[in-house]
Amino acid sequence: MYKITPLKHHHIPEIAALEAAAFSAPWDEAALGGELENPLALWLVAEDEGNAAAQTKTGEGETGTVLGYVGSQTCFEEADILNVCTAPAARRRGLARALMLELEAQLAPKGVERITLEVRASNDAAIALYEGLGYTQVGLRKGYYEKPREDALILQKRIVSP
Ligand SMILES: CC(C)(COP(=O)(O)OP(=O)(O)OC[C@H]1O[C@@H](n2cnc3c(N)ncnc32)[C@H](O)[C@@H]1OP(=O)(O)O)[C@@H](O)C(=O)NCCC(=O)NCCS
Repeated sequence: MYKITPLKHHHIPEIAALEAAAFSAPWDEAALGGELENPLALWLVAEDEGNAAAQTKTGEGETGTVLGYVGSQTCFEEADILNVCTAPAARRRGLARALMLELEAQLAPKGVERITLEVRASNDAAIALYEGLGYTQVGLRKGYYEKPREDALILQKRIVSP
């Protein structure tokens, strides 16, 4: 079992570790901490609720292991997804899909009409996730990524306010 909560300070070390494991240009703890102060940012975290042994006292209440997260920034009616990642052991359980759908649900009432993201052209798992959620390609940035150099697909989804 897991719950989805807004990003809090105590999540940051685990997210930074997942970032370092998953990405060649990871967000570090300082950059993640900056998002807590950023009024344009909305990050959501999926926390394990079922593993008491994994829970730690943080001063902000008990919290479970971070299983995944999604980060976004919004500018007027457009939101950009900055990152989505799930812990390797928690993959293919619908977590990334749930995080993305919850993000949509929280952004739509704020007047967001479009969500845009970039993805490595070879990242078949992420592309399948996004296409399954209704994202379609609207552009291509040649050589956008480094380490290794690779094109970025620009994907977008229109969302509607409830
Ligand atoms: C991409 C990633 C976020 C998917 O997370 P996840 O929690 O495993 O995804 P979900 O379980 O919600 O999968 C939803 C759908 O995405 C697609 N999908 C996810 N992983 C896939 C894979 N390895 N191969 C093919 N399709 C995949 C499937 O359509 C899946 O639906 P299904 O399981 O019913 O077939 C995860 O693999 C990850 O963190 N990768 C490393 C970081 C990364 O590349 N992030 C994206 C940056 S743009």
